[in-house]
Amino acid sequence: MDEKIFQIIADEERRQSEGLELIPSENYVSPQVLKAMGSVLTNKYSEGYPSFENLDGTDAQVLKGAGEENYRYYGGQDNTDRIERLAIARARRLFHADHANVQPHSGAQANNAVYNAWLKPGDTVLGMDLAQGGHLTHGAPVTQSAQIYNFIAYGTNPETGDLDYDEIERLAMEHKPKIILVGYSAFMKIPDFDRIAKIGAKIPGCLLMADMAHVAGLIAGGVHPNPLDHGFHVMTTTTHKTLRGPRGGLILTKGVVSNPLKKVGHSIENIPTLIDRSVFPGTQGGPLMHVIAAKAVCFYEAGLPSFRRYARQVVNNTKVLAAELKDAGFVLIGGGSENHLILIDTIKTCGVDGKTFEKLCDRCGLTLNANAIPNDTRKRFSPSGVRLGTPAITTRGMGENEMRMLATCLNAIADFCPGRNNGEWQDVDIMGKVIVELREAVRYLGKKFPTPTEKKD
Ligand SMILES: Cc1ncc(COP(=O)(O)O)c(C=O)c1O
Repeated sequence: MDEKIFQIIADEERRQSEGLELIPSENYVSPQVLKAMGSVLTNKYSEGYPSFENLDGTDAQVLKGAGEENYRYYGGQDNTDRIERLAIARARRLFHADHANVQPHSGAQANNAVYNAWLKPGDTVLGMDLAQGGHLTHGAPVTQSAQIYNFIAYGTNPETGDLDYDEIERLAMEHKPKIILVGYSAFMKIPDFDRIAKIGAKIPGCLLMADMAHVAGLIAGGVHPNPLDHGFHVMTTTTHKTLRGPRGGLILTKGVVSNPLKKVGHSIENIPTLIDRSVFPGTQGGPLMHVIAAKAVCFYEAGLPSFRRYARQVVNNTKVLAAELKDAGFVLIGGGSENHLILIDTIKTCGVDGKTFEKLCDRCGLTLNANAIPNDTRKRFSPSGVRLGTPAITTRGMGENEMRMLATCLNAIADFCPGRNNGEWQDVDIMGKVIVELREAVRYLGKKFPTPTEKKD
């Protein structure tokens, strides 16, 4: 037995149980998702795809429709074909898509596969600036895709905190992008997909792509609009954030589904097959079948009425937490939140950078992350803010009362800081005592609201 590794895993289990996870891109999976991920499916090579015939209807009909045909390169696929077909069918149903590719190993891989499917080197993509809340994979110069394609960045309106739609239209008309990309990692409003789809429709051959990595669970739960219902052609997502599945990626498309072994014409209608061919063999090798099984379980769970209640509660909890923090004098970007995350300007709130605030929270068992705010002038590792969210603590069953307690804890931490004490840090002894009290309060909440894996025991 490899005691070292299993001891560290046990330590991590304790950390997750005793602390409170406020990073908005993290969550706790169900015991069933965990079980599928730890299964013997990891032993199997399944390069290629199952058959795409008869994927409409119930799970039972999908299993019946599997047939003999597939597009795999190895034998022994009876079980993996059934798993991948169920995963595809459930994802299509959940997100109203014509097709789903469940093989991307991560959100970044999913985005790269879409670029590779649709763009030639040098083609232009209009995406949200990382510094304004976008994601690295949307054209940050340090990424491989930024070396291959020409990314033009749009931002937010500093007064409203919303997307600057006039600017998006102006840039789109000027640069005629091959892709307009809507998606973000630190943005609290609901995008106007119809408005962007109208802009895209004015540019021939412009693919409308939404990276919903952060809010896919809110879309599945019916509390956030689905870009595929509003004229978008492609939606990428991670499966491990609000969607509460295993770590991985997913690509959903509108269009015609055909044999992935055969080349198809370069048209928006053929985007499902262009993307299948771009995922495998274009950018990946064999799929992770244990993770695809866990994705299938996650899509099943996300289709249940209990998941709709969960998604509603995530949004309610965020609203309550944001309102309480605002009342306590916190400065929130965009003035609040319409989804699952909150961005705090810590410099304006209490005179410290986000990294310092993150470390103080860590000492109290509250995990969140330092984050740039729009137009941040500070360095990436000591930005002006922190980002936090409610998906994980809502999975543990916390509600509005606990959000009030959390706001009180965060406010007590802000009270340590120079911005709240005429430029001086609070007395070290007082700080030490309060940190012990806050740690205890956090541990109490952790015990009262166990993680899904603890509940199983
Ligand atoms: C909007 C967005 N897209 C893509 C990704 C990348 O996902 P992954 O870390 O699985 O590659 C993230 C992750 O934070 C994200 O927030």
